Amino acid sequence: MQQKLEQIKSEALAAIQTADTPEGIEALRVKYLGKKGEITSILKQMGGLSAEERPVIGALANEIRTALEDTLAKKDAEIEALVLQQRLIAESLDVTEPGAEIKFGRQHPMSIVLDEVKDIFIGMGFQIAEGPEVELSLYGFDRLNSPITHPSREWTDTFYITEDESVHLRSHTSPVQIRVMEAQKPPLRIISPGRAYRKDEVDASHSPMFHQIEGLVVDRGVTMGDLKGTLNLLASKLFGESTKTRFRPHHFPFTEPSCEVDVQCVVCGGTGCRTCKYEGWLELLGAGMVHPKVLSGCGIDPDVYSGFAFGAGIERMAMLRFGIDDMRLLFENDMRLLGQF
Ligand code: DAH
Repeated sequence: MQQKLEQIKSEALAAIQTADTPEGIEALRVKYLGKKGEITSILKQMGGLSAEERPVIGALANEIRTALEDTLAKKDAEIEALVLQQRLIAESLDVTEPGAEIKFGRQHPMSIVLDEVKDIFIGMGFQIAEGPEVELSLYGFDRLNSPITHPSREWTDTFYITEDESVHLRSHTSPVQIRVMEAQKPPLRIISPGRAYRKDEVDASHSPMFHQIEGLVVDRGVTMGDLKGTLNLLASKLFGESTKTRFRPHHFPFTEPSCEVDVQCVVCGGTGCRTCKYEGWLELLGAGMVHPKVLSGCGIDPDVYSGFAFGAGIERMAMLRFGIDDMRLLFENDMRLLGQF
């Protein structure tokens, strides 16, 4: 029996040394020291021993139990310390580590140009007006003196919302002029940027959704000279002090006289290149003196007041300003382009 005990002892000590989890230690404790453990079962057999043997085996069994208990406790503490250390390493937080890089967004070239244009006009005392993108044809066409036969009113050009053509997605920002003149009395000085929609196929210079900025000034004694001075200032602030402009006669139903305004090509400076199709000039916007019928339709007496108006494509301004040759680039959100401004 003594031999058996010694054997259990050396076996148990070896097993304890190889244990590497708290669960493993607990299993060994049960195996050797538990109620049905190996030491316990030896002790249960002590009844069959002689009176001389009993104290000797009893003492040995107790000594082995104590030795195993101590070793188990020591190993247990070791494992616990190891587990803790591993956890500390795994969960460690290096407060000196540089943070993850945050990518900052940038202003879109359209927003840059729009902000510049707004600043220029606010500097001249203009206010910013807004109008709906879903517009009444009454405002979008009729009150702007556009006859029912005007080509822009065709279903092939305009996105109508209603079958009877009374509501549509505005095809320009000009209806804001009517809304402003209806709501306020002159003197008026407003600009109104926003989206407009036309049934155009997407190509390098067209998009069914695009942006315009409308301008309107109504006061006593406003002349074509005021129109020219204002738009010349816009061109020189936007494209550089020495930028030349050209006012070409044109036709719009809501202005009389009407004109288109060109700027000298920002790429070649007027000598002719691919951007300006070798003409030296680039079309910037449409403008004119507000038609007397439009004024009187809004309750403004054209014998007392006069006004000028203009409408410009913001995509076009951004393209000219930054030398972007394809409008689609402005809508594709490609950081390789947007990161350049
Ligand atoms: N609404 C015109 C267009 O979309 C642009 C325009 C021309 C606006 C002359 C005006 C203007 O205010 O006076 O083509």
